[in-house]
Amino acid sequence: MFATASTQHDSKSSLYADLLLQARGLFEGERDVGANSANLSALIFNGLPELNWSGFYWMKGGGLVLGAFQGKPACVRIALGAGVCGTAARDRRTIVVQDVDAFPGHIACDSASRSEIVIPLLRGDAVLGVLDVDSPRLSRFDEEDARGLEALAKIFIDSTDLG
Ligand code: SME
Repeated sequence: MFATASTQHDSKSSLYADLLLQARGLFEGERDVGANSANLSALIFNGLPELNWSGFYWMKGGGLVLGAFQGKPACVRIALGAGVCGTAARDRRTIVVQDVDAFPGHIACDSASRSEIVIPLLRGDAVLGVLDVDSPRLSRFDEEDARGLEALAKIFIDSTDLG
């Protein structure tokens, strides 16, 4: 069973469909990056089961810098190519990590994290940042999570002024 704050879902696809609707509602009439990134990190953190962290890192001065998030305080700066986030940003591709201990160079911000997914935020060829989601359960994320979170990231990018 999958649940958002107000609704039960019997499949992951209906949960993501609900989250996409909620994201559209949250961004309607608002294009501020601080507001929309804070709301999306909260929507994901509270809407998906078994997470311990969800949030943003932004490309600034050639590296990633922490943005809005939900969860424990996290590492502030990550070099391009470092950890899961820096690798996803450098390679401009979504990375699903089933076991963070098996990912070379994984950066452990919260020792509770066991699996992780990172979505690059792209505009054309440029990488603006990444959306990072962590779970305390091994193998928490699959292809459906990748497609669902990519769809949420796309709505966010289309709805937000990103400088
Ligand atoms: N684990 C990430 C670092 C960010 S925290 O998980 C919030 C990484 O390896 O890039």
